[in-house]
Amino acid sequence: MRIIVVGAEGDIGKVACEELGSRHEIIKAGRSSGDIQVDMADRASVDAMYAKCGKVDAVISTAGNVHFGPLADFTEETFMLGLRHKVMGQVNLVLAGLSNVGDGGSFTLTSGVLDRDPIRMGAGAAAANGALGGFVLGAAIEMPRGLRINVVSPSLLDVSVPRYGEWFPGHEPVSSKRVGLAYAKSVEGAITGKVIIVE
Ligand SMILES: NC(=O)c1ccc[n+]([C@@H]2O[C@H](COP(=O)([O-])OP(=O)(O)OC[C@H]3O[C@@H](n4cnc5c(N)ncnc54)[C@H](OP(=O)(O)O)[C@@H]3O)[C@@H](O)[C@H]2O)c1
Repeated sequence: MRIIVVGAEGDIGKVACEELGSRHEIIKAGRSSGDIQVDMADRASVDAMYAKCGKVDAVISTAGNVHFGPLADFTEETFMLGLRHKVMGQVNLVLAGLSNVGDGGSFTLTSGVLDRDPIRMGAGAAAANGALGGFVLGAAIEMPRGLRINVVSPSLLDVSVPRYGEWFPGHEPVSSKRVGLAYAKSVEGAITGKVIIVE
């Protein structure tokens, strides 16, 4: 398969590429990293990415910034950051990608643990994750041409503990290998409309 991975050079992106890279052609995308540059929060940039890379069999997103901060300090602007980047960015990849993914292909998005096991300062991320679960459920039943869509929702990855571990007291990190397998399950398997929890 020909697979585009947006966020390929991030912690989760690397894990997904490692799992799928030996069996498939991977096109790596990021704002400044990878083979193709895209800002998924900007629909015109996403359209340009698809025009450049041509038809693919699968789209994986492992990108999506959110603002972390105390609930009382959130502003409309900081809250919107997660909705604009993590939610609309990934929705943009799907809406723009509908005509660029071949018959029977798939979209695999990324959310995270915080809408089921919250941490302090994570309300923006929790809201974004919940929205993505709802989007995938709703979109799956309208996918044309046998296309599928899922969202991988991992706990904190073992490789990300040095960056984020202190924010996740009591959370047991999940093996990167198992997170990679979740992307393989979505791309190479048959399920659709699922939140694939890895914890
Ligand atoms: N790491 C974890 O343990 C973990 C666990 C659960 C959920 N998550 C979620 O998974 C997502 C990825 O996390 P991560 O830790 O892998 O992040 P990361 O290491 O910071 O990597 C993010 C990647 O996404 C790209 N990116 C960011 N914004 C983009 C945009 N607007 N358009 C295109 N590419 C963009 C970045 O590339 P450039 O720098 O080139 O833009 C980078 O390659 C986040 O939403 C995070 O909340 C992470």
